[in-house]
Parts: sequence; C-alpha cells; structure tokens
Amino acid sequence: MVTIRSATPGDADAIANVYVNTWRSVYADLLLEKMLVGMSHERTALYWRRVIAEKPGRDLVRVADTDDRLVIGFASAGASRHRGLGFGGEIYTLYVLDEFQGAGTGQALLFSIFRRLLDRGLRSSLVWVLAGNPSRFFYEVMGGGRVAEREETMWGVRLNEIAFGWRDLDATLKGPRAASAS
Ligand SMILES: CC(C)(COP(=O)(O)OP(=O)(O)OC[C@H]1O[C@@H](n2cnc3c(N)ncnc32)[C@H](O)[C@@H]1OP(=O)(O)O)[C@@H](O)C(=O)NCCC(=O)NCCS
Repeated sequence: MVTIRSATPGDADAIANVYVNTWRSVYADLLLEKMLVGMSHERTALYWRRVIAEKPGRDLVRVADTDDRLVIGFASAGASRHRGLGFGGEIYTLYVLDEFQGAGTGQALLFSIFRRLLDRGLRSSLVWVLAGNPSRFFYEVMGGGRVAEREETMWGVRLNEIAFGWRDLDATLKGPRAASAS
C-alpha cells in the first residue's frame, strides 16, 4: 500500500533519488545529455533538505511511500510564481519512479497537494510542463485545462512549455477523480 505524507528532512536523499532518476528517464530526449549526466545526487539532496527544513511555511512537499518506507514519488507546491495568470497555487514538481508509475500514485500525490493548497487559502493551481513531456496527458486526465504557453531557455536549449490549470480546487476535490484518490 502507498501512503502520502508530509516530507521530513530525513527524506531528502530518497527524494533526490526519485528526482534524479525520473529526470534522466523522462528528459533523455528533451534536455542536453551533459546536463542530465552532470546532475548530482548530493547537490539535489542538499537542495531538498533545505527546502523541507528551512522553508516549511513556504513550500509544501509531500512524499509517497510504500509499507516498507521506500519513497517512490514526491510532489512540491506553493504560491504561484506567475500571478498574472490568475492562479493562486502552483505545482512545482511531481515525480513518480518509473517502475511505480501507472498505479495511481501520481494522482494521489496531486490531490493530496491540492488539499494542502486549499488549506493555505490557495483556491486554484497551475503546473508548467515541457510540451514534449508525455506527462502533459496525465494533467489533462486529472482535469487540468490548457491555460498558457511559453518558451524558456534551459541550459542553452529553447523549450516550449504548457501550463495546465485548475480554477476551482474545491470543486476538483469534490469530483469523482479526487474520491478515487483519497
Ligand atoms: C506524470 C506522473 C507523475 C504520473 O504519475 P503516475 O503514478 O504514473 O500516474 P497515475 O497512475 O496516478 O495515473 C492517473 C491517471 O492518469 C493517466 N496517465 C498517467 N500518465 C499518463 C500519460 N503519460 N498519458 C496519458 N495518461 C496518463 C493514467 O492512465 C491514469 O488514468 P486512469 O485512472 O483513467 O487509468 C508520472 O508518470 C511521472 O512521474 N512521470 C515522469 C516525471 C514527470 O514528467 N513529471 C511531471 C513533470 S511536470
């Protein structure tokens, strides 16, 4: 069974493991090889330890773990960094290890994060996804609507991104998808 809970600083290594492995898998055809090869587990763990320990009031971080305490996925969110689009919250990251995908964990993490955003008074949310990332279909299945597009330069590569948005998290959490994820 998979449990969704708040992350603790002790989860930083496991989160880094999920982060680095899913980046290398999902972005292999989208980002520069040298950037993916150069990702450091230690630096990534340090970053997440700081986010969880020093900014608990700012960023929400939730992890999914199995009965034997293996962290198989995580998500982070907080206030939207793009207020002009009219969304209060933003999903910053959502990753599930390859071998555990397709079993409902991504959906459970997403709805758990939506509940925490609402608890903080953030009534809507968006997420930015690389246009070439097949995960964009996941957000459509989760009821997100396309709300914006942009071009970003990351590590010297020009990439298109799409934002998916949920205008009313309360309604989303009362919908059939949320019921199956709780
Ligand atoms: C996107 C991601 C978080 C989804 O997590 P997951 O645990 O595999 O998804 P779930 O099992 O909860 O799927 C929920 C529903 O979405 C659908 N879905 C998931 N990924 C999909 C995809 N790529 N295309 C179409 N539908 C998808 C599932 O079929 C399921 O639908 P159903 O309930 O009607 O059967 C996961 O695939 C992932 O980590 N991908 C790589 C990292 C990434 O790109 N993250 C997003 C960066 S913004």
